Amino acid sequence: MDIVNPQVEEYMRSLVARYDEPVLLGMEAEAKERDFPIVGRLVGVTLELLARSIGAKRVFEMGSGFGYSAYWFSRAVGPDGELHLTDTDPENEMKAFAYLERANLDLPLRFHVSDAVEALAETLGDFDVVYCDIDKAGYPDAWKAAAERIRVGGLYLCDNVLWSGRVAQEGVTEPHPGWTEAIREHNAMIAADERYVSTIVPTRDGVMVALRIA
Ligand SMILES: C[S@@+](CC[C@H](N)C(=O)[O-])C[C@H]1O[C@@H](n2cnc3c(N)ncnc32)[C@H](O)[C@@H]1O
Repeated sequence: MDIVNPQVEEYMRSLVARYDEPVLLGMEAEAKERDFPIVGRLVGVTLELLARSIGAKRVFEMGSGFGYSAYWFSRAVGPDGELHLTDTDPENEMKAFAYLERANLDLPLRFHVSDAVEALAETLGDFDVVYCDIDKAGYPDAWKAAAERIRVGGLYLCDNVLWSGRVAQEGVTEPHPGWTEAIREHNAMIAADERYVSTIVPTRDGVMVALRIA
């Protein structure tokens, strides 16, 4: 199921063409070639915008892949920011450093080759933004861990929370058994949490935006 009408999405993409530059285009080309699930340009801009809107300086990513979403957070936090990347695949660490260095996004980066929830537990302090994009079975635990580590006024952001619309349908084919239920559980926990005001921005595959207010 297309969440956004493809023509509308194409129109929106035409409005972010000014971000074209060799490193970003290179990452997008690699994702296409390898069929690797990056957030894409429209969600990337959304991540940057939301992080900038709260003056974010300290960001923790759960599930960084080869650094595409981190590219957008790097633009937001600037050279005096601090960005933590996590991925279980060590090849992604090398690729992310190579891309982000070439992009001249000069800021302290720390890549944890580890399970994201474990890496968060091992990293001290609160964050302005925790962003989640790991395997979807892990979403409920990622939220439980992240919710405690975001400062009041900070954001929890999470990709794929509409999961091609499967969260709203019964009896649909699920390529990964249990993932739809895990995303539903994650979304319901966030919606019920009175420490956060949250909504799902239905761009691409749905982005959870939850602002900590208490
Ligand atoms: C959808 S991709 C991330 C894409 C990235 N956020 C982007 O937009 O460029 C998911 C990544 O999370 C990693 N991953 C999956 N489960 C994980 C976990 N529990 N902890 C850390 N990384 C995980 C995978 O290896 C994969 O590279």
